Amino acid sequence: MKILIIGSGGREHALAWKLSREGNRVFGAPGNPGIAQFGQVIRSTDYLTVASSVEPDLTVVGPEVPLVAGVVDQFRAARRWIVGPTEKNAQIEGSKIYSKELMLRLGIPTARFVRVEGEEQGITALDQFDFPVVVKADGLAAGKGVIIAPTRAEAEAAVRSLGPRLVIEELLRGEEVSFIALSDGRDAVALEATQDHKTVGDGDTGPNTGGMGAYCDGRILSRDESESIMDRIVRPVIDATKFTGFLYAGLMMTAGGPKVLEFNVRLGDPEAQPLMHRLNCDFADVLMRAATGTLRGAELKWKPEPSLCVVLAAAGYPGTPRTGDRISGIEHCGAEVFHAGTRTGAGGLETAGGRVLGITASGPDLACAIQNTYAAVEHIYFEGMHFRRDIGQKGLKRWLSTR
Ligand code: AMP
Ligand code: GLY
Repeated sequence: MKILIIGSGGREHALAWKLSREGNRVFGAPGNPGIAQFGQVIRSTDYLTVASSVEPDLTVVGPEVPLVAGVVDQFRAARRWIVGPTEKNAQIEGSKIYSKELMLRLGIPTARFVRVEGEEQGITALDQFDFPVVVKADGLAAGKGVIIAPTRAEAEAAVRSLGPRLVIEELLRGEEVSFIALSDGRDAVALEATQDHKTVGDGDTGPNTGGMGAYCDGRILSRDESESIMDRIVRPVIDATKFTGFLYAGLMMTAGGPKVLEFNVRLGDPEAQPLMHRLNCDFADVLMRAATGTLRGAELKWKPEPSLCVVLAAAGYPGTPRTGDRISGIEHCGAEVFHAGTRTGAGGLETAGGRVLGITASGPDLACAIQNTYAAVEHIYFEGMHFRRDIGQKGLKRWLSTR
């Protein structure tokens, strides 16, 4: 098949890598230098025009911005097969207020919340919560629209900086798990669970980022847990909205069971990197079935080995990243290197964004996957490079303590 992948990050490189290895011709728009190694990159965000020249059999959308802008509706109107939600259903990610009210209506477990339409209302609403409290901007914010405020003063400052449209909600405690399902509007298939690492610093410290690393291991959720999440969290949304595409539930595994922190309407980044690395079946076929409404009975197969992705970030990230630093050591590092924020400069590959590369490897168990990935990281260098050294450690601890 000819498959067009919309987006330019590590998630899109990982998708393109998997689909290309299956023998498909891949096209990336706007793409990145990683995708250009084996696919054709069209540096345009006018996706319909790109599709007219490429004539793909199938298009897959990576990021949320084109989804919220209605790219799926446009492609369908042009009678092109595409994987993703409609503009209406992209609101499940595009508006936290919409998403929380949907969860409330469907009885999906989530943090208690209040919707806020203005600063004054926000300050008053804080009376209904203990501290720390969570303050969220309503709209898309690239992972930076959430502040966990330890005190009332900080919460008031958060209301002022993120407002006027907000969700204020109670703090949930536990471990986070990313649960992603693929739906054709009626039937759905669950991907293996992954765990992201959202904050910039080791031990979950510092400000939130888009994600500093993730791993995929068949033991993150039991089969029962997975089925219960499908029944209580994913299927109600699909049944109520006829959702198509990837529905990503960001879960907090609380003492009272899994609760939804947020829904996204796409694959996670960096979750997609270990997911694509571990996937062991013809994914193009499953994606085509999702696009054409024939997903019933589809199954995904996974390699037994866990896989892990460590994100190498640029100086300054998650603030404004410095760009233009020369990248070296990729060729012989011994892992898959998914490009996220790179460009080809006069002197070769250089940094061009906050999250620069996702180094991804597997191993017979999680400890080995960690070892193999960090061994590969050792080979790579750019000025100002920083990364977390504890990706996967929560999983290791959990399984050591339950053995
Ligand atoms: P969101 O964009 O809503 O997923 O929030 C980003 C991150 O903030 C999440 O991945 C969590 O780490 C954290 N977070 C969001 N909501 C809560 C909550 N109610 N309790 C604790 N942490 C939260
Ligand atoms: N890694 C979190 C996200 O993609 O939103």
